[in-house]
Amino acid sequence: MEALAIAPAKIILFGEHFVVLGKPAIAMAIDLHAHVSVKEFNHGIHVESNKLNSFNQKDLEKSLKPIKLAAQSTLDHIGISGVGLNIKVNSFIPIGVGLGSSAAVSVATIAAVTRFFGVNLDRREMCELAFIPEKEVHGKPSGIDQTTSIYGGIISFKPNKGFKRIPCKELQLVVGNTKIIRSTKVLVSRVKELLDKKKDYAIELQKSYEFLYEEAVKAIRVKDFNKIGELMIENHELLKKLGVSHEKLDKFVEKAVEAGAFGAKLTGAGGGGCMIALTDEEKRDRIAKAISGIGGEVIMANIDEEGVRTKVKF
Ligand code: MEV
Repeated sequence: MEALAIAPAKIILFGEHFVVLGKPAIAMAIDLHAHVSVKEFNHGIHVESNKLNSFNQKDLEKSLKPIKLAAQSTLDHIGISGVGLNIKVNSFIPIGVGLGSSAAVSVATIAAVTRFFGVNLDRREMCELAFIPEKEVHGKPSGIDQTTSIYGGIISFKPNKGFKRIPCKELQLVVGNTKIIRSTKVLVSRVKELLDKKKDYAIELQKSYEFLYEEAVKAIRVKDFNKIGELMIENHELLKKLGVSHEKLDKFVEKAVEAGAFGAKLTGAGGGGCMIALTDEEKRDRIAKAISGIGGEVIMANIDEEGVRTKVKF
């Protein structure tokens, strides 16, 4: 018997970094997935992954650790010991570019392991468990990545408070990947350093963000794409002030808007990684061409409404 789980990647529409400071943020699960299958193995937890192409033993161990942690903490949580598991990860989510690849892999691993043992974990428990591997990867994550991957759709998430769904299925995005791999942990601590030094500036930026967030929730609810786009550009400017943009991201935003996007911004921790541009069907190809024309890898992203799901194969 084999248990399979699929978990989606995410993009942050509004509020990366501000969410680490305790503010609410808005994220959307997208149709790019990590697949994990779990089978019996003779002993221990054995991991295979399509993303492990490093010949450096240290790097290899480092990338395996969160997956093993996700599996082991799930086994501990459901009270199972002394079994061997073979975990096979097949992820279509680029790593280290702000799309929540580590969270999706952890979530799919937790879901596949529980499904393998026929245990029905509720989604809240899954969210808590996913903090264990996520802390290993990101230091002190807000929890928005795994929450989005688990529940799917568009959510407004506040750390330690939970989330609310924002009903809207119509957002079409062009994701532009700069292919510059960066560390969320490093960027989050860089923001902390800056804001610790400049307390008044920190308060001012957070106030501007709070206002923007309230407007964004309203705009998404009424599907006012022009307003959402305008707010995305404002959010990008705030992220620039936090020091987490990159000249390539700024260029991608500029080109996407020139090509007709309603708005665009960096997504995730920044410092490289990805940009998102809000589009409609008509403008999609033009924006995609503009981004690939300046060296970006283009991903057309639509909503994943379902979040993590599992099945078994005999
Ligand atoms: C999440 O994808 C990006 C950050 O907001 C970190 C976090 O929320 O843990 C920068």
